[in-house]
Amino acid sequence: MFAKLIAVSSYLPKKIMSNEDMTKIMDTTDEWIVTRTGIKNRHWAEKNETTADLGIQAVKRVLEKTGLKPEDFDAIIVSTASSENRWPSVSNQIHGALDFPRTTMSQDIYAACTGSVYGMSMVSSMIKSGDYKRVLFVSAEKMTNFIDLDNVDRGYAPIFADGAGAMVFEATEEEGIMDSVLCSDGKLGKLLSDKPIDPESEEKGMVFRGLDVFKHAINDMPEVLQTLLNKNNLTFEDIDLIVPHQANQRIIDAMVENYKIPVEKVVSTIEHHGNTSSASIIIALDEQIENGRAQKGDLIAFTAFGAGFTWGALLLRL
Ligand code: UT7
Repeated sequence: MFAKLIAVSSYLPKKIMSNEDMTKIMDTTDEWIVTRTGIKNRHWAEKNETTADLGIQAVKRVLEKTGLKPEDFDAIIVSTASSENRWPSVSNQIHGALDFPRTTMSQDIYAACTGSVYGMSMVSSMIKSGDYKRVLFVSAEKMTNFIDLDNVDRGYAPIFADGAGAMVFEATEEEGIMDSVLCSDGKLGKLLSDKPIDPESEEKGMVFRGLDVFKHAINDMPEVLQTLLNKNNLTFEDIDLIVPHQANQRIIDAMVENYKIPVEKVVSTIEHHGNTSSASIIIALDEQIENGRAQKGDLIAFTAFGAGFTWGALLLRL
């Protein structure tokens, strides 16, 4: 029994913020942002558009694509790192807004930018257990919730962006989610947190030790991918497409160089979307399916890294 991906959709808010727009709200330049991150544009949600609203738009699209109705789902699992409310969860909010029945369970998971790899792995286990036949997996991220427009922190504001993705997984005997490797190191949590973990800390707002995060990401993302391939007796030759978390183009470049990953197989959308946290790999996959680069039968490898620290890789047969 496998969790098979039936359909994927994504949603990006209408407002596009270019690097030029960023120079108007902080002390930065287009040149700095492009050379340090590879980002040129990012989508920003409106003030009154919530994290759940982004998820709802992605879910509406995937329901439209499949013709499925809310009552066709046993569960909604949402990955988010940026919801405005701790409860009700974003999955509960989507459940309520789109009239899912009481028999559809809903739950959020928190693994920051690795949330979609963790989430898909969980969905796979749920389906393999036999208890769930069809699961809606969503990632909704409004990372601009962390940007204080009255006091913009140029250290991280240029990279974060908003967006959502939705995936429908069904129990089938056809290959789907094949395997995953998930890792975490809680001792490093203090290097990247939405606010200081230490209650005595004088720091305000997000703690973002960019360079430390960068150094871990360039090693941990490709290493966990390599571990997953070794575990399955696969090489990069066997993989059709590699979809890494879109955090920084330099992280993707370093990963490709250090692990001799065939660059033509690596997806990068960061130039247009920035870092949409756990939504980034779903948005990137949706785009590759839409433009024909990813096709039915392809073996896709995801790899991601995020706060926690969390990191992981997952294999999906389309
Ligand atoms: O998604 C979850 C995982 N997240 C990540 O993987 C993010 C990982 N980290 C990064 O991608 C990078 O650390 C950043 C893009 C966030 C920052 O790049 P960096 O090369 O590490 O820059 P830095 O913070 O070390 O700053 C280098 C210089 C500093 O100036 P000095 O001290 O060398 O004179 C900063 O003040 O660049 C300056 N700087 C800026 N200059 C113009 C920092 N931010 C900016 C800015 N515009 N926006």
